[in-house]
Amino acid sequence: MDTGNRNLADIERRADEAGGEARRAKQHAAGKLTARERIDLFFDPETFQEIDRYVTHRCRDFGMADQVVPGDGVVAGFGRVSGRLVFAFAQDFTVVGGSLSETNAAKIVKLMDQAVKMGSPIVGLNDSGGARIQEGVLSLGGYADIFLRNTLASGVVPQLSAIMGPCAGGAVYSPAITDFTVMVDGTSYMFVTGPDVIQTVTHETVTKESLGGATTHNAKSGVAHFAVADDHECLSLLRDLLSFLPSNNLDDPPVVASSDPPDREDIALDRLVPEAPNQPYNIVELINSVADDGIFLEVHQQFAKNLVVGFVRLGGHTVGVVANQPTHLAGTLDIDASVKGARFVRFCDAFNIPLLTFEDVPGFLPGTQQEHGGIIRHGAKLLFAFAEATVPKVTVITRKAYGGAYCVMASKHIRTDLNYAWPTAEIAVMGPEGAVNVLYKRELEAAKDPETLRAQKAAEFREKFANPYTAAARGYLDAVIQPRRTRQILVTAFESLTSKRDKNPPKKHGNIPL
Ligand code: HXC
Repeated sequence: MDTGNRNLADIERRADEAGGEARRAKQHAAGKLTARERIDLFFDPETFQEIDRYVTHRCRDFGMADQVVPGDGVVAGFGRVSGRLVFAFAQDFTVVGGSLSETNAAKIVKLMDQAVKMGSPIVGLNDSGGARIQEGVLSLGGYADIFLRNTLASGVVPQLSAIMGPCAGGAVYSPAITDFTVMVDGTSYMFVTGPDVIQTVTHETVTKESLGGATTHNAKSGVAHFAVADDHECLSLLRDLLSFLPSNNLDDPPVVASSDPPDREDIALDRLVPEAPNQPYNIVELINSVADDGIFLEVHQQFAKNLVVGFVRLGGHTVGVVANQPTHLAGTLDIDASVKGARFVRFCDAFNIPLLTFEDVPGFLPGTQQEHGGIIRHGAKLLFAFAEATVPKVTVITRKAYGGAYCVMASKHIRTDLNYAWPTAEIAVMGPEGAVNVLYKRELEAAKDPETLRAQKAAEFREKFANPYTAAARGYLDAVIQPRRTRQILVTAFESLTSKRDKNPPKKHGNIPL
């Protein structure tokens, strides 16, 4: 072997060894795979090409001259996922805790720039102690360089973040800007300030897990969109998610052929909506029923459960679903649901993914907590997002479409292309009981038997307004459909909209009420 080859073999060996056997064993003992194992599992076999494997950091302070590892704590490159080009980086916790140095930030930046040029998704596998303390502002600058790329790439290529270890301090803001965040249960956490700082500043005692573990960010804060049991599930979910998405904002999502008949009927849907108007039913049954092969990839499953969002395919084409969930808070829209829905709708609109809305909403959630928390501002986000969306939009009202929520949930008036209702739909300013209390306040106060009067007036109101036919007579609905035929009607509807062209007035950008 000549000297050149010997040098290459030596660098390759040191890059593969990364932080060394002991640190790799520690990583495994913690239930985590190494950066290279993750990359290998994520990409189609033998398709990954690494870049910047020979990059080393330049810091010579604090003993860092003895900790020079080729690749410098991040494995970066490109490969294929289900045959499509994807760029990914994996922080290597075995090398200086996966901390971000000037040089490994430069590797990530280079990869992101290339991904945007190629119009390919960017996937970040995060497992890092944050800014490399020994490098000070050089590391902070590296983060800011990444944040800028995340922002500029937003709406151009899909960006996915997996949190597979620590992600703390300002480092959290890169995943926060990306489109979807997956967290591994038990081994990952995210927070801006950790338990020790919190203890000092606010005297609260909290564990890392309850402060920023996968459950916290999936169920409480909504920072994460998915929680998974381990690294394997995480990487497989990322691949699955990518299969629903286009490579960039000028592409369409891949079409996945299915043997599920487009005209498949489901008679169970005729009985899905219960007789009693306040009895809940699970809207996911409807989503599963209409989807190709019953496959629904739910996003934000644990957060704001009163609104369900996620991806299905209809006739092989990806569709983003937004649906009120009557089993939770009666399907009302609150702050969390509005924000969740708005972000999902904007993602779909940015990436040419048609939107399907299933509506059963008694209104916005009442209460001082909601009003003082800014439901006006947050509810407006969902309205704004639906109104500005120019992708094909189809709505099916299954039961209640009351008040402002009727307008917000992709009504005809905000440019929805096809609006359907089941015969069980009730479209009104408010529910019959609420309406009667307002309209017949004096009569009810004077009545000897107010309950009988209330019931009688509510029945009259329901007869007049709580049905789809007034809206259909105005053309606010395009058709009233038999529930069992919903899949067939939706497949045909979206097929008819594939060539839709619509745009918003030219502007720098709108001013969504953030
Ligand atoms: C340099 C670091 C490091 C860092 C960890 N290491 N974090 N080196 N800079 N930020 C090194 C450790 O010295 C150790 O080296 C190895 O990585 C593994 O770390 P351990 O502490 O042994 O691992 P563990 O017990 O699992 O604890 C992980 C940890 C802890 C909780 C992440 O390392 C930690 O608290 N690190 C500091 C976190 C932090 O405060 N980062 C700055 C956040 S602020 P050896 O040689 O022993 O293996 C920030 C600002 C970003 O990031 C701003 C953007 C705008």
